[in-house]
Amino acid sequence: MKYSLELTVPTPPEWVQTVMSNFPAFLQDHADCERKASAMAMSFIAKYPDRVEIIPELIETGVEELEHFQQVYARMEKRGIPLAKEMTEDPYIKSLLQLCRTDPMNRFMDRLLLASIIECRGAERFRLVWEAIENDPELKEFYHRLWTSEAKHGNIFVKMALHYFEKEKVYARLEELNRAEGQIVEKLPLRAAVH
Ligand SMILES: [Fe+2]
Ligand SMILES: [Fe+2]
Repeated sequence: MKYSLELTVPTPPEWVQTVMSNFPAFLQDHADCERKASAMAMSFIAKYPDRVEIIPELIETGVEELEHFQQVYARMEKRGIPLAKEMTEDPYIKSLLQLCRTDPMNRFMDRLLLASIIECRGAERFRLVWEAIENDPELKEFYHRLWTSEAKHGNIFVKMALHYFEKEKVYARLEELNRAEGQIVEKLPLRAAVH
């Protein structure tokens, strides 16, 4: 069975130019994103402790994201880049969360599917960063590894949803949310940030 999805709107090439022109700012945002991804996996467990089928995978994902945070931070430390002082709101995540339906079951499904879409977008963007990095083989290789890791995460949240919801409903909603994500991405201002 296919768990993954194709993004509907590709990231514009100008995004990667913006990132490469201010890589320290990108690293600061990237570190925050990894830390938040770990917290998000753990928050699923806190909110849905009875969903025992998915708890081991959520723990594993939370640990992997925390490791990503550790790895990004190590590279920042080496370059003398501090963590961002201010937590700026991520306009992308904010817009996506507004798409969640409000009743508890549908909300659960939407949050899982959005997690998958967010991971897929991260994978797409880390691939672009990997392609763009020159003269730093270690950093280039690091973004290659992150690309493959986030692509894997893109599948597991859809797979989790399939434990609890009919396949047709999952894929129909995934398509809707995926299309809406594309529209959000088209309107996002370009920043030296993951989103
Ligand atoms: Fe990650
Ligand atoms: Fe991830």
